[in-house]
Amino acid sequence: MKKEFLTSQTTVFIFDSGLGGITIYNYIKNIFLNINFIYLLDNKYFPYGNKSKNFILQRLIKILQKISLHHDITLVIIACNTASITSLPELKKYFSFPIIGVTPVIDLAITKTKNKIIGFLATNTTLQNYKIQNKIHLLKGKYIIKIISSPKLVFLAEQKLLGDKIILNEIKKIFFSWYKLKIFPDTIILGCTHFPLIKNELKIIFPKNIKFLDAKKYIIYKFKQLIKYNKNLSNTKKNIVYFTKIDKNINKIKNIFLKINFHMFKKFRT
Ligand code: DGL
Repeated sequence: MKKEFLTSQTTVFIFDSGLGGITIYNYIKNIFLNINFIYLLDNKYFPYGNKSKNFILQRLIKILQKISLHHDITLVIIACNTASITSLPELKKYFSFPIIGVTPVIDLAITKTKNKIIGFLATNTTLQNYKIQNKIHLLKGKYIIKIISSPKLVFLAEQKLLGDKIILNEIKKIFFSWYKLKIFPDTIILGCTHFPLIKNELKIIFPKNIKFLDAKKYIIYKFKQLIKYNKNLSNTKKNIVYFTKIDKNINKIKNIFLKINFHMFKKFRT
């Protein structure tokens, strides 16, 4: 059912295991200007890349139950491919507000590739998921899908955002097997929201003119379908960041969010 929120403030809750969801937030914040955003990074359990379906689903249910007690949530964006592919649509059954999520854009990649060789970067849990496995299986014979799952790539992306120097050779090593290919993929699916953070580094180490694809445009499309966005609402901007653990990076994390218009920081207890 289409929900309309014309008079009250729209509050969008964005979830990721870490900082990768910022790639989705940065994209939508420029399109929807007067929305309150709440971002939760589950840094206590980061990374999600090898976590089980059951763990992720139970964790998300717990987080959404608690967050919706304290905030009037208009829409939830699971800005984490690993969490979306494992938990949607089950998660939706527990809540009355709409929940959307990013998942790897395999269908889009098929329409974009010319040489029929597609690179697919995602976490282990995403790649092992039966929906992804089935899709890859159906494409056998028609396309070559070169898969890479690397927790290190997720860490490197997070480190880059935290201000650490990224050594290109470290990234290159992850793609060692691709350099032996006769033909390189012309289209690469960034199937983890952390990976757009290191797109520039990937562009340097890969051949020119590769198309990098992710699901951010899909999020805008779904958003517009579900929310009647009222651009005339006054902007009361109360963006909040919740983190689930206070660690050595917490001040750096706060600074990252301060720069993108989040001014309230809270520890989320689960
Ligand atoms: N950013 C997440 C994704 O899109 C997960 C990274 C991780 O926690 O391993 O899959």
